Amino acid sequence: ASKSDQQLISMHEFAAEMYHHILMNTEEGQSALDYLESRGFTHEMIEKNRIGWSLPEWNYMATALQRKGFSEEELVTSGLAIEREQSNGFFDRFRGRIMFPIMNENGKVIAFSGRVLEQSKQEAKYMNSPESPIFQKSQVLYNVHQARNAIRKNRKIVLFEGFMDVIAAGKAGVHNALATMGTSLTAHHIRKMKRFAQEVVICFDGDDAGWEAAKRAAIALNEENFKVEVAVLPGKMDPDDFIREQGAEAFQERIIGKPHAFIAFAMMHARRHKNFQYENDLLQYIQEVLQLLAGRSTPIERDLYIKQLSGETGLSEEAILQQYRKLENKSIGRSRPEKPVENVAKKESKRI
Ligand code: UTP
Ligand code: MN
Ligand code: MN
Ligand code: MN
Ligand code: MN
Repeated sequence: ASKSDQQLISMHEFAAEMYHHILMNTEEGQSALDYLESRGFTHEMIEKNRIGWSLPEWNYMATALQRKGFSEEELVTSGLAIEREQSNGFFDRFRGRIMFPIMNENGKVIAFSGRVLEQSKQEAKYMNSPESPIFQKSQVLYNVHQARNAIRKNRKIVLFEGFMDVIAAGKAGVHNALATMGTSLTAHHIRKMKRFAQEVVICFDGDDAGWEAAKRAAIALNEENFKVEVAVLPGKMDPDDFIREQGAEAFQERIIGKPHAFIAFAMMHARRHKNFQYENDLLQYIQEVLQLLAGRSTPIERDLYIKQLSGETGLSEEAILQQYRKLENKSIGRSRPEKPVENVAKKESKRI
């Protein structure tokens, strides 16, 4: 890294120590510590992830950094301070937030994500550092420095939606865990992941946003020749919720230990919010699944999933296979399947 990058890293390291100290050793940090404990964070987890608390004051950190000898320009570049528009001086970006340091692959702090104690409509739940010379959101994966060995050992990455889930998974004994910083998975992320493993288990939140993001991530990783599996959570839970409710063993055995194959997950995804009483839903479902199979299945997968389709829809395997052959002929010479055909609006569809 260049000298100015080094300087930015030093600032973040200094800030992380200070936030952590305030959380652990001061009265001002007590309510945040209580909050973390109420969410099941142990002292060990707080130490290991270097979690902290930013005081709800206008320029506590900016002042501390300047006193430490960092320049105004460095303050602003780091994103830790923001220049005032109307008057001289700076104010802290992070005020009154639980501070989660984001580390680079060497374990050095390059950015922060700050969480409000109580959710409100006025403020975003998480505030992240802006992009800087040392922090590119579309490239950084949370936890690489801690997960690398476990990933190599397991030959597998478990990919989560948020760093809270990574931290909870660590407590539950799942150490080969990574997450993006709230962005969708990019080609940069995938390239990085490729350096560590060829297999990935996606374990995103059980809400609709999580399902959609999981589908997109699964497709992107599959295109890049990862072996993709998807671990699905019951209801709208996220991994952290599940671990707190059901415990580490249930998480390891029932969730991470029983992932769905890529195509099986894609079928579950395609079935979501569909009602097979509506013929359009039914036809669209079959079309979506067959298109998926035509693009990338082995003969055994094809047989397996066509049987499953037949069981689910009550249509004969023979009819489904015929439809499949049509699609397959069309897809020769193409590596990826077409997008599913547009469906007619639900209200126009007839009941069977
Ligand atoms: P979630 O909303 O699922 O957060 O967002 P979470 O991890 O479950 O957090 P808790 O349990 O409510 O504390 C997942 C990820 O999306 C990004 C963050 O990176 C977060 O880890 N995110 C979410 C933001 O950047 N800003 C937000 O306001 C919310
Ligand atoms: Mn400490
Ligand atoms: Mn979510
Ligand atoms: Mn979540
Ligand atoms: Mn959560």
